[in-house]
Amino acid sequence: MSEITEQYDAYPYPERDPDDERRRLVTGSPSDLREIEHFLFAGRRDWSRPFRVLVAGGGTGDGLVQIAQQLAWAGRSAEITYLDLSTAAREIAERRAGIRGLDGIRFETGDLREAARLGPFDYIDCCGVLHHLLEPQEGFDALAAALDPGGGIGLMVYAPHGRSGVYPLQEAFRTLLAGLPPAERLARAREILARVPEGHPFRRNSHLVDHAASDAGFYDLLLHSCDRAFAIEELDAHLSRAGLGLVSPARPALYDPARFLPEGVALPEDLPLAARMGLAERLSGTLKTHIVYAAPEARAGRAMARGSDSALVPHLRGAAPEKLAAHVAAKGEVAAQGAGTRISEPLPRACAPLLARIDGRRSVADIVAAAGGDTLAALGHWARIDRALTGWGLLHYASPRQAER
Ligand SMILES: C[S@@+](CC[C@H](N)C(=O)[O-])C[C@H]1O[C@@H](n2cnc3c(N)ncnc32)[C@H](O)[C@@H]1O
Repeated sequence: MSEITEQYDAYPYPERDPDDERRRLVTGSPSDLREIEHFLFAGRRDWSRPFRVLVAGGGTGDGLVQIAQQLAWAGRSAEITYLDLSTAAREIAERRAGIRGLDGIRFETGDLREAARLGPFDYIDCCGVLHHLLEPQEGFDALAAALDPGGGIGLMVYAPHGRSGVYPLQEAFRTLLAGLPPAERLARAREILARVPEGHPFRRNSHLVDHAASDAGFYDLLLHSCDRAFAIEELDAHLSRAGLGLVSPARPALYDPARFLPEGVALPEDLPLAARMGLAERLSGTLKTHIVYAAPEARAGRAMARGSDSALVPHLRGAAPEKLAAHVAAKGEVAAQGAGTRISEPLPRACAPLLARIDGRRSVADIVAAAGGDTLAALGHWARIDRALTGWGLLHYASPRQAER
C-alpha cells in the first residue's frame, strides 16, 4: 500500500460525519453547478444531454455530494463517477450520498492516472489532489485524456505563499517521524509543534487553520508524505503541457495586480497573462490555494460566459438582491472576502435598481428593460456590476432555459 493510501485510510479527508448530511450541504468552489455552467459552458450548456461527471480523488465526498445534490435539485440527467485510492474515504462518501438518496453514483477505488478508462467526461472535479502526486504532470495529462473535447475541469491545488511555514515543518516531521504508524506520528508531531516558537512562520500564518480543526486536518497539512504547491504560472504551464487552457480562476479579481498599484505605478507592457496573475499572487501573499476552471486549449478562450451576452440570466451568489441593492445604494460599494481580507469594490449607486431586479429568471436585457430609463446608460451600469461581482465570484450567468426549471 502506498503511503498516500495509508494516510487517507487512517485519516480520511476532510473529516466528516455522514449524519451531518441530514442538516446541511457543504458547498464551495470548484464544482458549484452555476459556476460550472458559467466558467465552462458559456452559461449555455445543453442540459438535454446527460452530464457526465468525474470526481477524481473525491475523498470523503464534499465535491461529490455538492454536485450530485445540485444536479438532482435542478432535475438534470447525470452520470456521476467517484474515484479515489482510499476505501475508507470512499465508504464515508458513499454513506453521505446514501443519506441524501443520491442514487446511481458509480463508486470506483483506483488511481486517477487511469481515469481515461472510465471516461469520457463532460466535467471533472479534482480538488486538493494533484499536488499530492509524485509526478503532478501525470495527473494533469490523465485528466485531460479523460475529458470530452467539449468539457472542462474544476481544480484546486495548493499555492505557496499562503502556506508559508508549512513546508519546513513537513520536512522536519518527515525526518523525525518516518516509519512510525500514523496515529503515533500524529501524536508526536502535535508535541513537537507545541515547542515551535511563536516567531515560526507557521505560527505567524493566521490563514492556516486545518491543523486546529481535526486530526485529519493536522495530518493533511503537516504530515503529508507528498505535498507541493504551485505558483499560478507553474499551474498554467502544467495545464498547457496537458493540452489544457486556464479559463479563469473562480475569483478572477484575486489575480488582478492592478488593485495593489498606487497612482504612477503601471504594469510592465506586454506582461503575459500568467505573469500578471503571478504578480498579484506575490503581492497578495495570502493565497493558500488556486481554484481554477480549465478546458481543452482549443475552447478555453470561449468557455466562459460574458456579461455582454444580454440574453443570459444572472444569478447572485451568497447575497439577496434587495439587500445588495440597498447596500450599494447606501455605500456605493460591494464588499467581498479576498484571501482572508475584506475587500471593498466601488460600484455606482445608480447600479442599485438593476441589482434589485436580479431574480434568477430575468435575462440581463429583461432587467435593463424593467429598470426603465436610458438603455445605453443602464447597459454601462450593468458592465460595472458584471466586472465587480463576477470578479469576486458573486455573480454567474446561466441560460434562460436553466432558469425556467
Ligand atoms: C486532500 S483529499 C481531497 C478530497 C476531496 N477532493 C476534497 O476536496 O474534499 C485528497 C484525496 O485524493 C486521493 N488521492 C490522492 N492521490 C490519488 C490518486 N493518484 N488517485 C486517486 N485518488 C488520489 C486521496 O486518497 C484523498 O482522498
